[in-house]
Amino acid sequence: MTRPDPIPARDLPPGAVRRSGEWAVGNRDGRYFAVSRRCRHQLADLAEGSLDAEGCLVCPWHQSRYDVRTGEMVEGPRGFLGYHGPTPGYTQLVAALGRLLRLRVRRAVRRGDDVVLE
Ligand code: FES
Repeated sequence: MTRPDPIPARDLPPGAVRRSGEWAVGNRDGRYFAVSRRCRHQLADLAEGSLDAEGCLVCPWHQSRYDVRTGEMVEGPRGFLGYHGPTPGYTQLVAALGRLLRLRVRRAVRRGDDVVLE
């Protein structure tokens, strides 16, 4: 497995998410994580997502939520393509798939002034 470029720790304060190669790397209340970048719904870049109050990574397009410890989608999308709003049934269907097709997870640790992926 290739090792993407390190991220300066100062660029990754609590609550931040950054891109490192094919990974979305973040700081969840002082603990670093790395998950694969492509949302299981419609492939949005999760490095452009955000962390919510529960520490889940939220997709920037339709707000699917992911547990960054397991890569599991814990809540499905609120919309599809350019539509943003309620999608009963569809949301639960995508969430069920997202529980099976989890994001890849990689260990991220601080080494000196940088955050690196192992
Ligand atoms: S692309 Fe991520 S929720 Fe739709």
